[in-house]
Amino acid sequence: MKTAQNATQKVQLTETVLRDANQSLIATRLPYSKFADILPTMDKAGYYSVECWGGAVFDVCLRYLDEDPWQRLRDLRKNMPNTKLQMLLRGQNLLGYKHYPDEIVKMFVEKSVENGIDIIRIFDALNDLRNIEVATKTALKCGATVSGTLSFTQSPVHTLAAFAKQAKEMENMGVNTICIKDMAGVMTPEEAYELILAIKAEVKLPVVLHTHCTTGMAYMTYFKAIEAGVDVIDTATSCFSGGTSQPATETINFALKQLGIETGLDDAALKKVNDFFKPIRDQYIKDGLLNPKMMATDTDALNYKVPGGMLSNLVSQLKAQNAMDRFEEVLIETPKVRADLGYPPLVTPMSQMVGVQATSNVLAGERYKNISKEVKAYCRGEYGTAPAPIDPDVLKKALGDEKPIEGRYADTLEPVFEKTKAELAGIARSDEDVLSYVLFPQVAEKYFAARKAKEEKVVKYTIERVDE
Ligand code: CO
Repeated sequence: MKTAQNATQKVQLTETVLRDANQSLIATRLPYSKFADILPTMDKAGYYSVECWGGAVFDVCLRYLDEDPWQRLRDLRKNMPNTKLQMLLRGQNLLGYKHYPDEIVKMFVEKSVENGIDIIRIFDALNDLRNIEVATKTALKCGATVSGTLSFTQSPVHTLAAFAKQAKEMENMGVNTICIKDMAGVMTPEEAYELILAIKAEVKLPVVLHTHCTTGMAYMTYFKAIEAGVDVIDTATSCFSGGTSQPATETINFALKQLGIETGLDDAALKKVNDFFKPIRDQYIKDGLLNPKMMATDTDALNYKVPGGMLSNLVSQLKAQNAMDRFEEVLIETPKVRADLGYPPLVTPMSQMVGVQATSNVLAGERYKNISKEVKAYCRGEYGTAPAPIDPDVLKKALGDEKPIEGRYADTLEPVFEKTKAELAGIARSDEDVLSYVLFPQVAEKYFAARKAKEEKVVKYTIERVDE
């Protein structure tokens, strides 16, 4: 905090209402038309950045909102010319759930920057830096700011030294900031404090902290992070804060200013933003899309070391199989499976893989009797290197005599762009369309057809009007 000797401390805020808060509370269902009018005000608020693209935004735009995600990005750019637009990118997985060839990763990053992105937060679920290298290099070449990201998790191999080493390696790759991503909201104040000091001792770059309120820890964690000198934190406008979302922007701003810490934020603009989103939030509650439970505190993730989102997935899996009476056993099995698989952080897609395997181990009455094709691919090394060695017996059960791959999985993938573009002749209207299709073939195809049908309807209507 501020001391007599130090210059005034500065902490900047990234507003997440358009991406993570929207994704965590209402499954990313906020259409562009609902928030377009507030963008000029948000543009004047003085945020470090506005996280507004990537994560699930791209998929949901095409799948549920009948929106072209690229058009959304261009519109955001046009209406927030003075604010840094930020996206979240899963390294070699981009915004999808599998690895893409380098050619696609490069093009996707180039097009993201060309259409308006300033800051790309790039992470890999396993913290395997080979999976963020191509995206990072491309983004830097395009002039974007890269936030090299540590997927935070707790395990015997995820030590302060290991995270600090990763931060150093990312600094050597040329990233501009280091982000600590606590997707599950399980990071404690003490852990944040120690980790930020350890990273700051190793690298010269600004440090960003991302967490969720899920377990109720986040405000305290931010406070200790600030004490350790964190430079940027993620928050959400207060009516979209708390629960599975981030801490509240106005609350943090208020507390920091009183402590003499500069945030650079405009209080009046922050209030306008919150006043704007309040009735939107209320409507989602009324429609049942925002479950009030999502806004409450859930400490189970602390006890079981299982992220909140994963807990609700486990519950629905067990309910579907009429086996809720085995819930406790599955919860005990989950950390064991995670240890067997070399302690992967429980983030997409690892959280799903570990959860399904733990459920199967319990319900089948025999551990690893059934192994999913995803876990087999993981054991083969197709997702990258596990943080710790995979248990040899599990490896044997998954692969038999097959050997894991030696190099980087993406090196085995053939380029697909030109081939796909040719296949989509007359359907895709831009390289961006082709990329949408490469990432989400079925949903993109459906979106293209709907777009065409909508236009034909407009043309027909116009002709009829002319005839009158
Ligand atoms: Co998050």
